[in-house]
Amino acid sequence: MTRKLIAGNWKMNGGLAANESLVKAMLEGLASPACGIALCAPAPYLAQLQALLKGSPIDWGSQDVSAHEQGAYTGEVSAAMLRDFGCRYAIVGHSERRQYHGETDELVAAKAQRALALGVTPIVCVGETLQQREAGETEQVVKRQLAAVIHTVGHCISEIVVAYEPVWAIGTGKTATPEQAQQVHAVLRAQLAAATTNPKRVHILYGGSMNAANAASLLAQPDIDGGLIGGASLKAPDFLQIIAACA
Ligand code: PGA
Repeated sequence: MTRKLIAGNWKMNGGLAANESLVKAMLEGLASPACGIALCAPAPYLAQLQALLKGSPIDWGSQDVSAHEQGAYTGEVSAAMLRDFGCRYAIVGHSERRQYHGETDELVAAKAQRALALGVTPIVCVGETLQQREAGETEQVVKRQLAAVIHTVGHCISEIVVAYEPVWAIGTGKTATPEQAQQVHAVLRAQLAAATTNPKRVHILYGGSMNAANAASLLAQPDIDGGLIGGASLKAPDFLQIIAACA
């Protein structure tokens, strides 16, 4: 793994004016980043990001993608449409989609496959709930979630990005300790190693209350290749500090 990847997940936040000032502040504060950077915005703002970020070191992506190619799927956004707007990434299987929209492992895998087919890199989220962690099921849960994607995309697995996001750490201010996170990342890396000859090529991001204060210790772990950042990606100084922690 050469460069880490820091991806912001704005979730359902923002607006034309707020996005513009946030992105401008980020671009102004960005010296020469030592990592890859991406911002994942709500679909209506992808054109705005394309315009604001063109020629900058920051890539952009969506927070979801349809598993279907095209047609009668009201409200959905296809991978081809994302491609049209220059999207490099699409988050798939975020726990909020799994929880509030009933997305199954199979659907998440189909979305990842569709994104890959159009040259959009899926950021596949996996992670256990607090109840599952307390029941000692963490490994089993994340392995099942990743296995569905491996099964569906086959040898293309080395083209994905994985994000380990313990559900209990998302938006709660409760972060996994670097050791807890590393332990799960090592499990995921071993699973990838059994599926591809190039497991180190796959970025495994940590997500869940990563912030300016805890980023460096998480990113120092051998199998933590970057972060998927929610709340802290809405504040330019915090996001810039996380980027700086990659140096
Ligand atoms: P958080 O969100 O950084 O606000 O915890 C992370 C995510 O849900 O991707």
